[in-house]
This record gives sequence, C-alpha cells and structure tokens, in this order.
Amino acid sequence: MRERRMRGSRGQPPGRGAVLPEPGMKTEAACGAAAGVYPVDVLDDDPDAHRKAALACYASLGEGAGASSEVFCLPTGEQVKLEASSVYFCTVHRDEPQHKILVLVNPQDTKTVVAVYIKESWWSTEDAIRTSDPAREGLMKVQSFGERIVLFILNVIIFGRLERNLDDDDMFFLPHSVKEQAKIMWRHGAAVGFYTTKMKGSLCGSGTGVCYLLPVFDTVFVRRKHRRQGLGTAMLRDFCETFPDDEALGVSYPMSPAMYQVCRQFLLVCPEERGRLWEVKPPGAWGQRINIWLKVQLQPRLPDWQHTQEIPRRRTSAVMRGLLGMTDPDSLPLETAASRKCRQKPGLDTCTS
Ligand SMILES: CC(C)(COP(=O)(O)OP(=O)(O)OC[C@H]1O[C@@H](n2cnc3c(N)ncnc32)[C@H](O)[C@@H]1OP(=O)(O)O)[C@@H](O)C(=O)NCCC(=O)NCCS
Repeated sequence: MRERRMRGSRGQPPGRGAVLPEPGMKTEAACGAAAGVYPVDVLDDDPDAHRKAALACYASLGEGAGASSEVFCLPTGEQVKLEASSVYFCTVHRDEPQHKILVLVNPQDTKTVVAVYIKESWWSTEDAIRTSDPAREGLMKVQSFGERIVLFILNVIIFGRLERNLDDDDMFFLPHSVKEQAKIMWRHGAAVGFYTTKMKGSLCGSGTGVCYLLPVFDTVFVRRKHRRQGLGTAMLRDFCETFPDDEALGVSYPMSPAMYQVCRQFLLVCPEERGRLWEVKPPGAWGQRINIWLKVQLQPRLPDWQHTQEIPRRRTSAVMRGLLGMTDPDSLPLETAASRKCRQKPGLDTCTS
C-alpha cells in the first residue's frame, strides 16, 4: 500500500494528490495535483456525467472488495482505505434524489466525511470548497453545478457534521433544493459561508400551494474560524440591499441566538431597516411575523452573551421540536429526512452505501 501526504494548505497544489494509485492503475488522482485547479473551477454543469462517474468509482471499489490498494491520507496522518464499506452516496438536493455525491467517511467515525469524489478524483473536503479563481471573492450567486456541490458540502458536511456539536440540540438545515436561491461567501480562495433566500411568490414547500408573501433570509452559515468578523452581517446587509423596494423582509423562524445578535447589531447601526425586518414562519402572513427590532426592544439581552465566545446553544424542548416538525436526524430514514421542508439536521441521513 503506497500513500502520499495530503496537500491541503493554501498555496499548494490541490488535494487530488492525497491518493496515490498503485503502478498500472488509473493515475488521474496523482496527475491532477499539478493542474492547480479545484473542482468548482472546472466541473461541467453535467450532474448526469458526475453521477455516472461516481457509480463507476463505487462499482470499482466494490469489485476490489477487501483488496483495496489505495488510501486517502488525512491531515492527521491517518490513512483511510478506499473501499466500498467506507464510501457512501449522499443526496445533494432534497428534491432531486438522482443527484448524488460519493463521499469517503472516516471508518472510526462514520459520520465524518473526509473526502468527496468529484471530477473522477478524491478531494479532501477542504480542497473541495477551494477555488484557484481570483475572481471568486466575496458573495457570489450559486449558479453552476460545481457551486451547488460547494453549497452542499458547506451545509451538510461542514455545518451539519464537522462544525456542529452533535451531542447538543443545535440548529441544522436540510440539504437545499436544486433551485434554492443561494449565495456563497468566498474568502481568500475558499468558500467560508452561505445564505439562501426564499423568494416572494415561491412555493413554501412541495405538496403545498402556499407561496411566500415576502422575501425571506432563510438559511445562513459562517464557518467557525471566520465568525465574529462581520460576514454574517455582510450577508444580512446584502439580502436587504437585494430587495430595496419591498416594504417587509423576513428572517426565517426560528432564529439562532447568534443570528438574533447579528440582527440586533445590524438594526442598531441601520435604523432605516428596523421597520422592514421580521422573523417569519412561512408563508409570512401578518399573524406569522414578529418585527425583529420590536423583539429586541422587548427582550432584554441575556447577561453573559457579550462576554462569551459562543452563545449557549439552543435547547428546544421535545414538545417545541414536535411543533416545529423537527426530528432527531439520526433516527430518520433517509428519504423521510430529505423530504421534510422545514429546517432540520441534514448529516449523512441523506446517504446510502
Ligand atoms: C449566525 C452566524 C451566521 C453569524 O455569523 P458571524 O459572521 O459570526 O456574524 P458577525 O460577525 O457579522 O456578527 C455581528 C455581530 O453580531 C453579534 N454576534 C454574532 N455572533 C455572536 C455570538 N455567537 N455571541 C454574541 N454575539 C454575537 C456580535 O455583536 C457581532 O459583532 P462583534 O463581533 O463586533 O461583537 C454564525 O454564527 C453561524 O453560522 N452560526 C451557525 C448557523 C446559524 O446559527 N445560522 C442562523 C440560523 S437563523
């Protein structure tokens, strides 16, 4: 078994070199490192070709069951054998079950994805969300298939698993829909956050004829090491600026404590937005909104929030979770989790092996 160290740090070639094939095997994993491009920069808008390549890879791993000679090297130096029992298919979009991505999990912790298979190569999750395109900087609309995969990795793999306290009752989001209006925050060559918008007039969910009555800032995430640097605020501001003519704008209920603080700070410095921002439940009728600035005025700030790095995580009672339609993701059958329309924990419930 031969292995090569993963090249994960910025400025070095991308992580395709993390896997070294045996002599005589296909060498795309090794030669890709020299190319200096990341998947989002080169991936064709061809989900079907992507799916076929992933299926072929999975089939080849299945054929070599028990005798895999390829390994993926984690940043810790630990090696993960590329074999059928360590790879899973994840559904990229909750409403398009055929769009799947092949992921490699840590055998010691099968909820942790260490690599994804894109463009006929394995990429570490960190490299899969990098870009070598200097024009990709700041907030950019998600348009291509490659950007949708980056959104999925940020949402499901990074927020859903790596950067969420799984022992806690933390907030989570389902995989987005294939048509979700989304923007990714790019910073110094990597995707570090995202936000999504529910457009006024768009359906609140499949199987319902009810439409949103106002634009809604729906899901938002900033990677842990980039928090408290104004990115959450920048996304909220961008959302407000996108809809200058709407008299009312929503932020999806329930807001996390951190998001509540972002709104509070934002409204302190932008008084002109105080009358426009509402915390809303779909579809956002008057009885389903509360003005956020009013909420700020009514709710005294929790005493220690400003002094702590992390806000105490939200604990939602079982009754409240029931009312909100939330379920423990680890107990959900795959498609049940994927078919729910409200915010829920995503994770690898959307995966099959
Ligand atoms: C909510 C979230 C997007 C905020 O992103 P962020 O980039 O850290 O936000 P900002 O840096 O713009 O914060 C602006 C201000 O809000 C307040 N704030 C933000 N996070 C806070 C926290 N955890 N505790 C206390 N105050 C906080 C601060 O006053 C901050 O300004 P300061 O750092 O100068 O004091 C981020 O914490 C996140 O991704 N959380 C997990 C997902 C989530 O909760 N999404 C919201 C669903 S409704």
